[in-house]
Amino acid sequence: MQRMADDLMDSYDEELELEIDDRDVDENGARRPLVDQAARHSYFKSLFQLQGELVKLQDWVQQSREKVVILFEGRDAAGKGGVIKRITQRLNPRVARVAALPAPNDRERTQWYFQRYVSHLPAAGEIVMFDRSWYNRAGVEHVMGFCTDAEYEEFFRSVPEFEKMLVRSGIRLIKYWFSITDEEQHMRFLGRIHDPLKQWKLSPMDLQSRVRWEEYTKAKEVMLERTHIPEAPWWVVPADDKKKARLNCISHLLSQMPYHEVAHAEVVLPERVRNPDYFRQPV
Ligand code: ADP
Ligand code: AMP
Ligand code: MLT
Repeated sequence: MQRMADDLMDSYDEELELEIDDRDVDENGARRPLVDQAARHSYFKSLFQLQGELVKLQDWVQQSREKVVILFEGRDAAGKGGVIKRITQRLNPRVARVAALPAPNDRERTQWYFQRYVSHLPAAGEIVMFDRSWYNRAGVEHVMGFCTDAEYEEFFRSVPEFEKMLVRSGIRLIKYWFSITDEEQHMRFLGRIHDPLKQWKLSPMDLQSRVRWEEYTKAKEVMLERTHIPEAPWWVVPADDKKKARLNCISHLLSQMPYHEVAHAEVVLPERVRNPDYFRQPV
């Protein structure tokens, strides 16, 4: 009985830990009020239910040797990292992996643009979540001037072909755009400035994304329009409300997958070997 209570406390602690993501701090360092307990209760209930379904999805992906790629794009602080954490939280990291690539190094800059992403694509029985993706070229690289206009144009010529090849090769490709308002991004950055547990998330790129809000808006519109193809459409997740965004995104993801529960043989714990000679070292 005590054991079960300890396990419960453990999961509760994990929730509290993830709650740091949800804690909002204003410019004076004061917490924004917590949502009411009934809302929290219903959020956790829905989240656990969806995470249970994700486990079934994982079993199905493994058993039917599916290959799944999920892209998460959106402005800085849109909540991509938060939803990815909740998707992976109860899954096997060997089945469901995250690819969050840093800025390309000097060697990678000389390669075919898609090359460094290709090496992270899934094999059979794997799900790969890209926390930002090749779409960097249409967003931060274009807005910040990290690529030339010719490279930007070439990207738009290549990307539909590239994604069609992925899909023809048997990959299920799902693309999410997390959408937040100007005001919400402003509030989240204030939180990052004033909360010591979030400061690592605030990068010089983030500050530029405030300065260049309008340019990012234009870049997003062009990107969504030029890369929304039947083989790989964009799904836009309204993300000002973090909790709703997570639940919506996960349930949408599940709705896109024809998974079913995989039957498992009943597991019986074997008895341990009682013969003391069994572990004796030969002399
Ligand atoms: P994140 O928001 O993912 O925590 P940043 O805000 O630091 O990271 O950067 C945003 C994106 O811009 C990242 O995907 C990063 O790889 C990309 N980036 C930053 N600097 C460069 C650069 N010099 N060239 C190309 N991409 C870059
Ligand atoms: P309750 O409203 O106490 O029934 O809790 C509903 C869910 O919310 C449970 O999964 C709790 O673990 C979680 N929960 C309740 N209060 C908190 C809190 N202050 N911080 C983190 N999680 C909480
Ligand atoms: C997010 O919240 O969208 C991600 O953590 C990316 C970021 O802005 O750093």
